[in-house]
Amino acid sequence: MNLTLRRVRPADAAAIAEQFADPEVFGGTLQLPFASEELWAQRIAGMNPPAPGSNELVLAACLGDKPVGLAGLHAVGPSVRRRHAMMLGITVAKAAQGQGVGNALMTALLDYADNWAQVLRIELTVFHDNQRAIRLYERHGFAPEGRLKAYAMRNGAYEDVLAMARLHPRQPMVGGDAD
Ligand SMILES: CC(C)(COP(=O)(O)OP(=O)(O)OC[C@H]1O[C@@H](n2cnc3c(N)ncnc32)[C@H](O)[C@@H]1OP(=O)(O)O)[C@@H](O)C(=O)NCCC(=O)NCCS
Repeated sequence: MNLTLRRVRPADAAAIAEQFADPEVFGGTLQLPFASEELWAQRIAGMNPPAPGSNELVLAACLGDKPVGLAGLHAVGPSVRRRHAMMLGITVAKAAQGQGVGNALMTALLDYADNWAQVLRIELTVFHDNQRAIRLYERHGFAPEGRLKAYAMRNGAYEDVLAMARLHPRQPMVGGDAD
């Protein structure tokens, strides 16, 4: 698969809304049915250009110029004492799943977090039965930290999620050297 990874753009809104219209895609996230192009355009516009000082990043994995996957790192809130932590979200269009797109997005986002954006801790929640996502996260160094009961409504039932997190695997040193 000939993928290009780049920062998401306002012109991607229609393709992203199409990706999120699929119950197998939005169902795994906390998004709602009836994805709206306008809502995505608004969200992307709010991140482009990034606010000064923000290290938030949403990457699009594209075939040609059409996004088939999206992965983002977002601030966890305004607390100064939690500036080292970010939240991760990822989705891949149904037709492009199982072909390494999620893996490519995770690799690029974690390189950005570890080597450029000064992120120590990355956290996420994932539905307890989303085995493909859990395997992807574990392959990239995330570990489960707990199970949150009845965390979110999904298709008529309150479902548990796993809280997972990853700490920077080799915390940066002055001059890149521990000596
Ligand atoms: C979870 C999700 C992001 C994974 O994305 P993906 O692109 O399907 O993931 P990958 O293709 O990289 O990996 C999935 C599988 O394909 C396999 N694979 C196939 N071809 C591959 C390739 N060329 N390179 C790497 N892996 C490949 C992987 O080994 C992996 O196998 P496994 O699941 O048995 O371990 C995607 O399924 C998705 O968007 N789901 C719906 C939304 C969702 O649940 N998001 C997560 C919210 S917490």
